[in-house]
Amino acid sequence: MSVYSKLYEGKAKILYTTDEPEILLADFKDDATAFNAQKRGNILGKGLINCSISSKLFQQLEVHGIKTHYIDNPAPHQMRVIALRILPLEVVIRNIAAGSLCQQTGLPVGTVLKQPLVEFYYKNDQLGDPLLTSDRLYLLELATPEQVDTITHLAIEINDFLRGFFQRCSITLVDFKLEFGLDSQQQLILADEISPDTCRLWDSDAISDPDSRVLDKDRFRKDLGNVEHAYQEVLQRVLKAVESNK
Ligand code: TMP
Ligand code: ASP
Repeated sequence: MSVYSKLYEGKAKILYTTDEPEILLADFKDDATAFNAQKRGNILGKGLINCSISSKLFQQLEVHGIKTHYIDNPAPHQMRVIALRILPLEVVIRNIAAGSLCQQTGLPVGTVLKQPLVEFYYKNDQLGDPLLTSDRLYLLELATPEQVDTITHLAIEINDFLRGFFQRCSITLVDFKLEFGLDSQQQLILADEISPDTCRLWDSDAISDPDSRVLDKDRFRKDLGNVEHAYQEVLQRVLKAVESNK
């Protein structure tokens, strides 16, 4: 496979075109940003770790019947993916209250939600990725009602699967963000990444300690330290769970 030109550089990944028009190459970076890139840093080895975790999770989801953009890994920090038209939506699924849900509603951190909450945010850095109402989503024509319905069902199914998978890693899946795209047949496909950058992951064995339970980007956001170690820990547990499932 020859790589042609840089198509897009995001905060955590660079996308390249390849000699196959329907395939792109995603190169995962060590760069870390938070609060809409107001905070910037570098997490040593993050690119490789997030690429490895995402690849394993996408493979597991494929086995479970969920279509993802994942193809293979030409290098440990690189993923070949299906070229998609990414919908400008960030789909957040929450099982436990944390982050912006607590800031905006006053719910105490750690409140277990009676059922998963699926939220749509407008993927637009200039506007700071605002939370959407469904009327605003349709006003801006960000997706059709059928697509929203399909995404909601997929999000719930992915959440059910990932919660169970992470439970086997002694990790509690608090919340996470997904992105979807359309392939050339207008089929909705799970895209982007699923990693400690895009999930809140709490160590089930340290669940009552608000600092030591954190195994995700909140360590970077809140300056909790040991960021690399937490990401590495998630990778090791994911690899072990995949191995023991074979
Ligand atoms: P929030 O509580 O800040 O809204 O975040 C909810 C989840 O979405 C959390 O697991 C982190 C993830 N997320 C991203 O992946 N990208 C983002 O830009 C934001 C704000 C959150
Ligand atoms: N990914 C977003 C940013 O870099 C926000 C976050 O993850 O906190 O700004």
